[in-house]
Amino acid sequence: MQLHLSSWPEIEAYLAKSRAILIPIGSTEQHGPNGLLGTDALCPEIIGKRAGDEAGILVGPTFNVGQAQHHMAFPGTITLRPSTMIAAMLDWSQSLTRHGFERIYWLNGHGGNIATITAAFSEMYHGVTFQQQGSNRPPLRCMLRNWWELPGVMDLCRQLFPVGEGSHATPSEVSVTWFGYPEAQKKVEMTPKIAPNGPIYDAEDYRRRFPDGRIGSDPSQATVEAGGKIVEAAVKGVIAEFRSFAAS
Ligand code: NI
Repeated sequence: MQLHLSSWPEIEAYLAKSRAILIPIGSTEQHGPNGLLGTDALCPEIIGKRAGDEAGILVGPTFNVGQAQHHMAFPGTITLRPSTMIAAMLDWSQSLTRHGFERIYWLNGHGGNIATITAAFSEMYHGVTFQQQGSNRPPLRCMLRNWWELPGVMDLCRQLFPVGEGSHATPSEVSVTWFGYPEAQKKVEMTPKIAPNGPIYDAEDYRRRFPDGRIGSDPSQATVEAGGKIVEAAVKGVIAEFRSFAAS
């Protein structure tokens, strides 16, 4: 069940049986020569939507722009300041709590978002503590889950791509997006076959170190079939974890 494809009476009916919602959160940033700019937003969106369809979980709109400052030397990347992202997440969560939501499960697709998401949770909890003192209103709880850390997913990715998984523009994440959007597959020869590894600083330095955008990966191994397997494992993990979080 997707919030933006529902009517308000349907959301009111959902709230009568559940106070929990899943929000996919990611980034719009370069993902190497064959990866889509939307990769980090599309992965949690594809996994979240399936989990929603299979288990009747309400899935909100995707928070699809995040912390991508170090990818800004590549065209198409869009980034937020940490303070902007925290403010926007706060407004999203306050809108949802206004309607009665008490559990927000943020399914994240971008490692660079983690610190800012965690800071946003602190802002939300401060708001609850300072503004609702003495009220009987149940507190908001947020949970962050990186999709690649769901049970069994990382093992499966290593098994599918024992060489060249790397850490940015990985064959696993590219496979997930191709599974969701097979028409967006791109055949690109990778030179070198496996991208270099190294530290991340500012945007210009990133492009000098990693000229085609990849870090340590060979995403030419990506396939729709591998994406399907990864999504299946992740969906199973999301459903189990969301259910126990919703009941907490
Ligand atoms: Ni990514």
